[in-house]
Amino acid sequence: MSSVPVITLDGPSGSGKGTVSTRLASKLGWHYLDSGAIYRALAHAAGLAGVMESGAAAEIARGLQLAFRPAPDGGAAVLLDGADITDAIRTEECGALASRFAADPAVREALLQRQRDFRQAPGLVADGRDMGTVVFPDAEHKIYLTASAEVRAERRHKQLKQKGINDSIARLLEVIRERDARDEGRETSPLKPAADAIVLDTSDMSLEEVVESVQQKVGYSSLS
Ligand code: DC
Repeated sequence: MSSVPVITLDGPSGSGKGTVSTRLASKLGWHYLDSGAIYRALAHAAGLAGVMESGAAAEIARGLQLAFRPAPDGGAAVLLDGADITDAIRTEECGALASRFAADPAVREALLQRQRDFRQAPGLVADGRDMGTVVFPDAEHKIYLTASAEVRAERRHKQLKQKGINDSIARLLEVIRERDARDEGRETSPLKPAADAIVLDTSDMSLEEVVESVQQKVGYSSLS
């Protein structure tokens, strides 16, 4: 086991874990793992190769030429074979395909060590679905963020609107519910809180409040 500390933030999409994780990582000066981006990059690569079947996706996962670079917004730019796919992988379609491939144990196995390699000094904030349960079971602090599907659909609606995309809340809610059901219902590494995770419902909280609360829970509240 590595002695490098890890904080895991798991939860469904729209729970706020992405923003909270990047802020926390930047405040601590730790590395950040966006594991969802790896599954999304795989979906993107499979799409480019015309692969829709998960057996072949595991093969692609093994050879994925992926790199992350710090982005100006504190997040990370994602490069596939040197090409910037940061925005391309953020679509609902890419998320849905990533969720489908992610249900295959061979795909998960192929991506496991790649995720563990992010554990570098001085520390790692890891964001995903199974960070606390499977990838870093010995993490120092485990947080599980959740929020009602309705609130998450509204948050997504606002985000998309800022980008000039006008998807109806009803459709987004349907997509979110479908993805939740698949991520929670799969046999391998389903989305669920680790037995030793702190569960935080962010439905009625602002982003600032969530960041503050997570910082307090992990004992880094003195950071500003
Ligand atoms: O967090 P996200 O929405 O970017 O993740 C996209 C999909 O990838 C998600 O619906 C399921 C899958 N995923 C996973 O199975 N395990 C992870 N640790 C992260 C993401």
